[in-house]
Amino acid sequence: MSSHIQIFDTTLRDGEQTPGVNFSFDERLKIAKQLEKWGVDIIEAGFPASSSGSFASVEAISKALTTTAVCGLARCVKSDIDAVYEATKEAAKPRIHVFIATSPIHRDSKLMMTKEEVLASIKEHVTYAKQFFEVVQFSPEDATRTELPFLIECVQTAVDAGATVINIPDTVGFSYPSEYGQIFKTLLDQIKTNQDVIYSAHCHDDLGLAVANSMAAIENGAKRIEGTLNGIGERAGNTALEEVALGLYVRQDHYNNQTQIKLAETKQTSDLISRFAGIRVPRNKAIVGQNAFSHESGIHQDGVLKNPETYEIMTPQLVGVDTTELPLGKLSGKHAFAEKLIALGYDVSPEEQKVLFKQFKAIADKKKSVTDRDIHALIQGTEHEQNAIYQVETLQLQFVSSGLQSAVVVIKDNEGNTYQDSSIGTGSIVSIYNAVDRIFNKETELIDYTIDSVTEGTDAQGEVHVQLKINDHIVTGVGIDHDILLASCKAYVEAHAKYAANTSKKEGIHS
Ligand code: KIV
Ligand code: ZN
Repeated sequence: MSSHIQIFDTTLRDGEQTPGVNFSFDERLKIAKQLEKWGVDIIEAGFPASSSGSFASVEAISKALTTTAVCGLARCVKSDIDAVYEATKEAAKPRIHVFIATSPIHRDSKLMMTKEEVLASIKEHVTYAKQFFEVVQFSPEDATRTELPFLIECVQTAVDAGATVINIPDTVGFSYPSEYGQIFKTLLDQIKTNQDVIYSAHCHDDLGLAVANSMAAIENGAKRIEGTLNGIGERAGNTALEEVALGLYVRQDHYNNQTQIKLAETKQTSDLISRFAGIRVPRNKAIVGQNAFSHESGIHQDGVLKNPETYEIMTPQLVGVDTTELPLGKLSGKHAFAEKLIALGYDVSPEEQKVLFKQFKAIADKKKSVTDRDIHALIQGTEHEQNAIYQVETLQLQFVSSGLQSAVVVIKDNEGNTYQDSSIGTGSIVSIYNAVDRIFNKETELIDYTIDSVTEGTDAQGEVHVQLKINDHIVTGVGIDHDILLASCKAYVEAHAKYAANTSKKEGIHS
């Protein structure tokens, strides 16, 4: 009989540990709601003791979600556990995730604790957490570099103290599938308990093995997989949950397990997180990359035309790519637009709808047909801009001479103040970016700049991702617009705005 694999999403906790990623309060809430719609079982909404911002968003997410369990992270520290309790107490299903490092290198170089002290701490803190939570998850951090007999002792101690979920983190992405799978097999064989204990996999992708290791864990009895959308996370990232969900679905014959993920929401969920994180999904990324369903060689194209199954093991529609049944156009009116928003699952106020309709008309004037992905991009982009502290008001460009361009940029903050500056540069983008740097009065290093199209065709909307270094901080920004220069300017302003929000507000800006 096929059994259920729980999907534990940590995009808002481990995913946010990606350099340059810093979700705003509203973005966190929107991501959590979309993850609930996608069908994840548990959301790790944050680490409440780490900051008042994390506490507030875990609390808000706990109140907002109705079916998905909400979990908070805690070290083996009583005040961390108290913070998770306070932040999640109004959740429909509150959960806690308690961890302590167990490997020799972490014990000796980071914690300065003996094995006995680590065991005592596990016992004390899991017991403490169990007073407040029906379900306590325990993680021995850096489990895969922990001596196996000691790992077994740690897990047995946690289970004896009341933990019913044991998560095995491959914290530094060091393990390989057969080794990682064997750890699960050993624990399932050796841990003695008369409670139902679930084993969970948590992998990092330093060697590119996070998904393979997670699948090996399932083959050896794991019933929960932790990870993030698009595999974002610290260093090389975490297990990409969309790959696990589709792997289990497409190869049910082998895994004989299923998730409750609504696969058709996958692309939409991935796009939302990519935009809010400012991290572009690589074109060749499995499941959600732009090339995942394109066929380049003539032989492949011929095969797919004759029968898609010649080269496609799943349809694009299965994961929510290319689902547009009724594209809109420039003759579509308010009614058709409103119906489309409902069909796509958006619940927007009449005022927001007015603003969106105007923007939709602007796109429809430039594009023959407006697809569902255009509408998703429009809404995500608009929400994103509305949440921003600074927005681009106007952008003017002029050719000067010998390849030089001049740019005038005006931006507005969310209190209605405007700021403007101009600059010359060796090309349009350089001149725009110089002008924005002058507005924010910051020296920057542009680390990455990429342009993608939201949909196919020469009339597609452009999506620009930038990554900047400002005073040794890495920040990211995304801009979407039909005009690629405006999208570039929006992305750059957003990155500056994120830096400003994370340091002293409005420091250095001049009008
Ligand atoms: O990778 C890791 O070890 C973690 C722990 C907090 C579980 O994220
Ligand atoms: Zn992790």
